[in-house]
Amino acid sequence: MGALLGISLPVAFGSLFTADFRWSLLAATSAVTLNALNFFHGKVATAEDQSYLTALALRQGFALADYGLNLALVICFVVMAFGAGDATILNASLVALRSLDLVLVLVVVRVLDQGRVEKSQRFWLLMNSAGIVLFGALLVASIIGRAGIYDWTAWIFLGYIVIDIIGDYALNAGIYFHVDTDWDDLADGWDAVQGKFGDPYRNLLIYPYLDSRFEFDGTRVLDLGCGNGCVSRWIATKGGRVVGVDGSSRLIELANTYWADDQAPLFEVLDLCNLEDAMAWSSRDERAESFDYVIAVFTLQDLPTLEPVLELIATSISPGGICIVIIENDLASPRSARAETTNRLWVDKPGRIPRRQLIVWSELPSELLPTGANKTTTTYHRPLRWYSEQFSVFGLREDTAWSALTPPEIVRTADDSAMIRRYARAPKFSVATFKRSGSKTMNA
Ligand SMILES: C[S@@+](CC[C@H](N)C(=O)[O-])C[C@H]1O[C@@H](n2cnc3c(N)ncnc32)[C@H](O)[C@@H]1O
Repeated sequence: MGALLGISLPVAFGSLFTADFRWSLLAATSAVTLNALNFFHGKVATAEDQSYLTALALRQGFALADYGLNLALVICFVVMAFGAGDATILNASLVALRSLDLVLVLVVVRVLDQGRVEKSQRFWLLMNSAGIVLFGALLVASIIGRAGIYDWTAWIFLGYIVIDIIGDYALNAGIYFHVDTDWDDLADGWDAVQGKFGDPYRNLLIYPYLDSRFEFDGTRVLDLGCGNGCVSRWIATKGGRVVGVDGSSRLIELANTYWADDQAPLFEVLDLCNLEDAMAWSSRDERAESFDYVIAVFTLQDLPTLEPVLELIATSISPGGICIVIIENDLASPRSARAETTNRLWVDKPGRIPRRQLIVWSELPSELLPTGANKTTTTYHRPLRWYSEQFSVFGLREDTAWSALTPPEIVRTADDSAMIRRYARAPKFSVATFKRSGSKTMNA
């Protein structure tokens, strides 16, 4: 796609200076430029979509089609730029460009499971279809020799692109720009999907893992970023006395609606990125060093900074206590396409914890969202080794090394859950445990 900008734009602008100056030539050149920039931005945004990358990595045929179609699109842009001044060439390349992109979008829609670009595709399909009809009609008119078609084409092209860009950036802002996660806003949708004990990922992957390794009966457990409390409730059924904390007051409100008896977890609002709040929380009611287990399920990946939460873990966990961390990490899967392309995207930031993090935006699947919402969540994908180093800075040594959370054989063969079968092909949930000095009984 860099070639798209590198070749087509200078050529388009060059034509402005070689021809007698005409306003319509300027309109066409501006339209090619804006179109190329918008396409380029769209490609970059699509290339950051995790589901898209996974689909590319898993399906050779798709990767090849994607490559071929994108190459053909670049060629169309170059022809379009060379065709400035000629109505037939300009319209033919526009029809070809829109047709190729239509095929590409349809292929991607078919292959993606729940990519964040999925919603944007509908708008792209609409604009591509409209473009084929519009520029197709202008192409026919120019071939049969109607006068003044180039001028019409240039201005219609510019108008079309302006509408395309305004619509695209207005409707698809979530894939182009960083949007802070608002968990209060997502809370009701999240709760509707997770329910009392969570989705199949929790029931078929996470709980069997926890059940086979840890004995929660009679222990004190702290659930960090507990969401609607589904994991806390499951641990409570195993006899754990659980306190769940989360930054979203709406999620805590929802967590408290499920179950109220002595066994029920206690849920509280706490911002895990605020060191002062975290320290005040752990110094209250004899909480310091009182938790046998601290668990964080898909929470650390959502936090922009880890220092406060690591300080909280270090001060709340009992000597010999175990911290169980489960994260969703694209870098975990050896088959992940991102694992190949990641290094150059790391950014280093100075600070007590030198931050090396790749920031990617991933949209929650639409069924997780309240109706009509177009929200994104920000996920911080960090190297697993980096997590371990930071835990050790806070006196928590790695007890069991990072490993991929794989579905038990029985689930893989007997369960009919499509999401688990898909997951089994490229497991990207990683788990590790960390320990303070002292000992703790584990089942395995
Ligand atoms: C992916 S959800 C996981 C929820 C829960 N652990 C589960 O497995 O269902 C991430 C959770 O982290 C919480 N979270 C994000 N940022 C937070 C912060 N700064 N402080 C506390 N909780 C936070 C969100 O509110 C959300 O409930």
